[in-house]
Amino acid sequence: MSLWGGRFKEETDKLVRDFTSSIEVDKKLYKYDLQGSIAHTKMLWRCGIIEKEEAEEIIETLKEIEKDIKSGKVDLIGKEDIHMTIEEELIKRIGDVGKKLHTARSRNDQIALDERLYLRDKIKELSKLTCNFQEVLLEMAQKNQETIIPGFTHLQYAQPLLLAHHFLAYFWMFQRDKERFGDVYKRVNVMPLGSGALAGTSLPIDRKYVARLLGFPDVSPNSLDAVSDRDYIIEFLSSLSILMMHLSRLSEEIVLWSSPLFSFIEIRDAFATGSSIMPQKKNPDVVELIRGKVGHIYGNLFSLLTTIKALPLSYNRDMQEDKKPLFESIEITEGSLKIYIRLLKNIKINKDRMRKEAEKGFFAATDLTDYLVKKRIPFRGAHRIVGEIVKYCLEKGKNFKSLTLKEYQSFSSLFKEDIFDRLELEECVFSKESTGGTGKKALGEQINLAKEVLKETFLPEKRMW
Ligand code: ARG
Repeated sequence: MSLWGGRFKEETDKLVRDFTSSIEVDKKLYKYDLQGSIAHTKMLWRCGIIEKEEAEEIIETLKEIEKDIKSGKVDLIGKEDIHMTIEEELIKRIGDVGKKLHTARSRNDQIALDERLYLRDKIKELSKLTCNFQEVLLEMAQKNQETIIPGFTHLQYAQPLLLAHHFLAYFWMFQRDKERFGDVYKRVNVMPLGSGALAGTSLPIDRKYVARLLGFPDVSPNSLDAVSDRDYIIEFLSSLSILMMHLSRLSEEIVLWSSPLFSFIEIRDAFATGSSIMPQKKNPDVVELIRGKVGHIYGNLFSLLTTIKALPLSYNRDMQEDKKPLFESIEITEGSLKIYIRLLKNIKINKDRMRKEAEKGFFAATDLTDYLVKKRIPFRGAHRIVGEIVKYCLEKGKNFKSLTLKEYQSFSSLFKEDIFDRLELEECVFSKESTGGTGKKALGEQINLAKEVLKETFLPEKRMW
């Protein structure tokens, strides 16, 4: 008979027991459940609700249970959930004293606490991983401060860039992802225990004491809200979705860049895979899988949004379904970041090929426009003149470098001999010195800034990780 079986005339049907059980999923939370129970027990004693000896016996036994769960000695099979399993185990071991643990507590505030404790750890771990990944991006950028690549818009040649600039673009995306984790952490870091089932309790508890024991800066201000919302998980899943979306864009570029059509990079053998039928193939399966797994991440966000949508206050059993999407999304994101940290270092960069492509496609067109603008031609007028030069080149099978000064001057008398300096690839890249541009000095400043923000290993409360 279950611990809640008092009002029931018959045993729960086995089908119902299996159907409602969540132990296979929430057993992951045992450490946090015990941590919360220990803090709760200390508070019950401090507030005079249970005796000191009782508290000591409960705490000691909970610690033993933790060891036994870890070593697989506690039988989890067929249990309802992690909360009932631990409580039943406690009562089995110390009898009536164990029955006092659940005083002034409900599984509704208990699960909210477990999830918040779990999330605090996971957010820290994921932030650390994101930092490590940023370090690799920064390292790649520092090594490629002279490597020129074609920059694209619409996947058409646009303007040449430094490869360092390209890697740093990702660096900043992951910086914002990390900052988003910090924001979510603030809302996760609120202590819900003591909300009871939904209304609070008439027993003289001290919630702030529990919060202090567990390192929470705040307690939740409304018991109904505390047991019934999961917005912090939804917010966290949306942060993971954005991070994985960023990874999917990088993955797409790695797929493209490693394709023979681009041949910009080569993935080292240890990080590529082969084909079961075509002996010559070497495929970028790792990044393709990461790109593919984003589907689960978005799906999990929508799964939880849909689960919580239109639920009346307060707790409803539907909410038990929040854990699977949460755990799966964390697992995928962790796995993806871990493999990416190694993978990026295992890419050979084909600098010559990148440079060759960067030289194509009238790359200096904007620079020619700027040349005229500097001579006071209105931008729109300069744009038209250069457009006409491009048209002329296309018709005559020429390019900017093969035109004579005379030909340039037939479009504008403002063109002088120094126009040819503007047509050099390096000049074109290094001259983009506006803050945040791909110019040499601007890039140096960007690298310094990136180093600075990486030093901020901050915990969100104090910005310490
Ligand atoms: N397994 C439940 C969950 O994850 C714990 C809370 C159960 N509460 C209840 N009133 N049945 O949501």
